[in-house]
Parts: sequence; structure tokens; C-alpha cells
Amino acid sequence: MKPLYIFTEKEKQQIENIIKTNPYNPYTQYSEFKDYISHIIRNHPLPENLVEVCRIIVDDRIKNGNHVHVLKNCPIDLKLPNLDLNNPVQHKYKSKLTYIGEGFLELISQIQKTPLFSYKSRNNGDYFTDLVSFNKFKGKKTGFTDGDLIYHSDRSYHPVRADYVSLLGLQVTESELIYTTYMDVKELKKYLSKEAISMLEKEIFQTDVDDRSKENNSSWQSSATHAIFLKENLIRYQDTFTRPIDQDNIDAIKAILELKHAMSRSEKLRHMIKKGDLLIFGNQTGIHNREWIDVKNPEEGRKRWLLKTYSLDNEEKVQQYSKWATKQDPYCITDN
Ligand SMILES: [Fe+2]
Repeated sequence: MKPLYIFTEKEKQQIENIIKTNPYNPYTQYSEFKDYISHIIRNHPLPENLVEVCRIIVDDRIKNGNHVHVLKNCPIDLKLPNLDLNNPVQHKYKSKLTYIGEGFLELISQIQKTPLFSYKSRNNGDYFTDLVSFNKFKGKKTGFTDGDLIYHSDRSYHPVRADYVSLLGLQVTESELIYTTYMDVKELKKYLSKEAISMLEKEIFQTDVDDRSKENNSSWQSSATHAIFLKENLIRYQDTFTRPIDQDNIDAIKAILELKHAMSRSEKLRHMIKKGDLLIFGNQTGIHNREWIDVKNPEEGRKRWLLKTYSLDNEEKVQQYSKWATKQDPYCITDN
């Protein structure tokens, strides 16, 4: 899709030079890393267009209900290790020794006042995680595998879900066409009957837990009972994972079938994330998927590495989710 803004080389360099001064490791000293970025915002002149573009994104969400934005030529780490896909998390800790991408994602979130949060059970509570093809998840039901991924909101089964997901392209083979597609709730509703919408607003559904999340908690099989359509045009849905609790509820099954028809007919926003692209999209204002449209060399496709963050749409949300937060860090969320 058309980018909202492409940073000039000069702006990219200017942002990178500022981020580089951060002496802290975001994986072992996140609190200090985050505070340093706050210090940068207060004390260093940032490129005007960076601040302006963040303002435009937030305004566009609130005033126009647009929840997908692309920025190009963003600062990222120039030297990246070839991640060992047998254990990419541990390998990254040891071998990725610069944090330009992490600094940029933190900077954007702080300027927008949309704080990052993490899950305690994922990557040791890291705020910056990697969307890569883990060898051990090949063929499994999780986003951390290769190939296509069904339409979903991230963590549909979890009581705490991101308002926005950011994906920053670190390593992408441009000849392998892998797309992320987004469909907005407002668009889906255009193709749904009033009866189906009202059925999907009822708390009569549940969502199964995906394979990667079961790794840390094998007894957690499914979400609590929930509605698919939430207030203010939000959605909680993972295709093939979300189903009526009562398998004999014909009206609920019909409503899901109608939703699937609406998914086929709705307008979609597609973007192929390239190196230096930042794609930010609403995680509850719509559903998204991943498609391997034309991948000639699957091994090259599997090397795709995106840096990912979850954010809340404002600081007040942190209070709302305090029940699930760890004692030490209100932005780090537990599973129960
Ligand atoms: Fe996702």
C-alpha cells in the first residue's frame, strides 16, 4: 500500500545518530533503555517530519478511523546476524549487538503516547520480539512458522490484547513476495446482516490457544467466553480458532458463516513489508493475515525477519490491565 511517509536519507541518519547514543540493552535493561528514549525526546531536536508523521497517524486513527499506516526508509540495524532458526531468541541475544530498530520502535511509541507492553511468557518478557520462521514450529498452528497465516487478531484468546501491532522489516528478500493483509471491522460490517452483527456481539464464543502459547502453558486450551464484535467497532477473532461454545447453536454458526462470507467480499489493504518499512496496524480494529503470494525459494522466504512490538492506544489502558500485570512492571502482562 501507499506509504504515509518516506524518510529522507538525511532524516534517517539523524534519527539513527540520536538512537545510537543509547547505552542500554533493551533485552536486559529495558527500563533504562525506555527512560533514555524519553530523555532523547525531551532534550534532543528530532526531525520535524518524524514528530509530524506520528501526529498524523494518531489523528488519522481518531478522526478518520484509519488504522493502517506505512513508513518507509526507517532506521534499522545495518549489520544483522543470520539467525539460527533452531533457537532464534537466544541467538539474537548473543549476536545482535546494535539496537537501532528497537530504539526506533520505542521512539515512535513514545512520541505517539501509545506505550509498548510485553507478555511475560513470551521471549522472557521482551518488548521487542522477532517474527521469524522457527524450525520447531514448521507446520504448526502459530504465527512463528513459514507460509500463509489465517486472518486473526493477535492473542485473540488472551484477556489483554494489543491495540496496535508494529512490524519493522529488518531482513527481507524482495524477490519473495510475502504480504500482510488487513481488513477493517467497519468494512466487514458492510456485508453483514443486522441479525448476524447482533449474534456476533453476544458472549457465546471462545478461541483456542495457538501452539506457541501452549508451549509455556500446556493446560491452557481456550479463552474465556467472549463476543466476536466488541464495542466501538473492535473485533476479537481468529479464523478457525474462534467458535461458538455451544456447537449446536445454529444461529451462532450461521453468524460465523456470514462473517466468513463478509471476509471474502470486504475491501483489503495489502502491504509487502520490505527492509526499512514500518507497518503499523490496529490489532482489534480489524483482522490481518500473512500470505506467501509468490515465493520461489522457500528457504529465502524463511529468512524474513521482522521486529515486532505491541502497543496500547493510551497510557490509561495500563491501569485497566493492571490485574494481569507483573508486580515489578505494569507494562509486562502475565497469562492469568
Ligand atoms: Fe498477527
